[in-house]
Amino acid sequence: MKVLVVGNGGREHAIVWKLSQSSKIQKIYCTIGNSGIEKLAETVKIKSDDINSLAAFAAKENIDYTFVGPEVPLALGIVDYFKEKNLKIFGPSKKGAMLEASKSFSKNFMKKYEIPTAEYASFEDFKQAKDFLDKWPEDKKIVVKADGLAAGKGVVMCQNRKEALNAAEQMMLSKAFGDSGTKIVFEEWLEGEEVSVLLFTDGKFFEIMPPAQDHKRIGEKDTGLNTGGMGAYTPAPIATEKLLKDIKENIVPKILEGLQKEKIDYKGVLYIGFMIVKDRPYVLEFNCRFGDPETQVILPLLKTDLFDIMANTVNGTLGDLKIDWLKKSAVTVVIASGGYPEKHVNGYEISGFNDVKPEEAIIFHAGTKTENGKTVTAGGRVLAVSAVSDDIKSTVDKVYKSVEKIKFENSYYRRDIAWRVLKNG
Ligand code: AMP
Ligand code: GLY
Repeated sequence: MKVLVVGNGGREHAIVWKLSQSSKIQKIYCTIGNSGIEKLAETVKIKSDDINSLAAFAAKENIDYTFVGPEVPLALGIVDYFKEKNLKIFGPSKKGAMLEASKSFSKNFMKKYEIPTAEYASFEDFKQAKDFLDKWPEDKKIVVKADGLAAGKGVVMCQNRKEALNAAEQMMLSKAFGDSGTKIVFEEWLEGEEVSVLLFTDGKFFEIMPPAQDHKRIGEKDTGLNTGGMGAYTPAPIATEKLLKDIKENIVPKILEGLQKEKIDYKGVLYIGFMIVKDRPYVLEFNCRFGDPETQVILPLLKTDLFDIMANTVNGTLGDLKIDWLKKSAVTVVIASGGYPEKHVNGYEISGFNDVKPEEAIIFHAGTKTENGKTVTAGGRVLAVSAVSDDIKSTVDKVYKSVEKIKFENSYYRRDIAWRVLKNG
């Protein structure tokens, strides 16, 4: 079998790494790639949003399956286009991807199918949004979201009405997020702890992955600017057996029923971001793909061949496959370029790879490239170092031993990944 992976970050390195363990795959291709991916896959110089060229490539090279990593090609309709051309592809249709690509679409979907979520109101007209805020209590918190995709930056947590008005102005009038902010959503601010539950689904059956927790802020103890994610761990103890049972028995079936009723073809990964408020799960967001860096902790625990999962998902036979997970813990620490998520400099040589043994950690590349035979930095998030062990504490100790061995100028990483678990002993 020949497989094409679309995307070129740490998530896609993890996907390529897992697929490369399958005896059923002869060759893996990956778009653009990076220094890590290119050791496992042949890189293809086609951007992940150039759908026509990707389909032409898949047809010409007789690719058996294409696996889509990022949200943008999904939101652009890569799956619908490949299907028209009779090419097999893993990911939701364009309409399914709207669960991520439009916050108002996803909120309306949740309301219609009685999926617990924060109260909300959405607006396309600034005056109406302002009228809504004029009635909002002056000192009450509120969350303001740009409707469309904004690379994780379109959410503003506002302490009061004034901040909310400012955020709405920025989005709707100043176009701070371009067309993504033409529409906005106001949301009730939920206080609690977050957990991400991802699942594979073919639209009928689903398999829940080990629950993970991301660390979105750049600074330790979750302070400072939002990033794409600075580290993650799984399993997250906040997702108790009872909570997961509730999610599996009550929430996911409602989501799948909604997708079926709306005639949405969804064959891929559904990422559900929850806020747990007083032991009850509320859906904060849907993503229509694997998370980054959650993938870098989830896939190291997957025992089943990812090729089989991909093929059964695409072919609608996921219910026939038994999926097994290692009953262990995994932690990933992202090593970033100093200055990220604001300005950073690329091109620094990275050393220390050979000092990390495969049984100690897996090093997933995100923003790296090969220059004159050397691996150099080429992005804000540079590497994600993942380790697996028996529990979170021993995994944290293990992963940082490897992280410390990787060196490049001005590197930065958080030293407190999994702090919420560790603080509770
Ligand atoms: P989203 O892209 O919708 O998941 O939002 C990004 C982040 O903003 C989430 O992971 C939360 O940390 C925070 N957030 C979003 N919506 C809410 C909400 N209604 N209440 C509290 N925090 C929120
Ligand atoms: N780590 C969050 C995301 O992938 O959206």
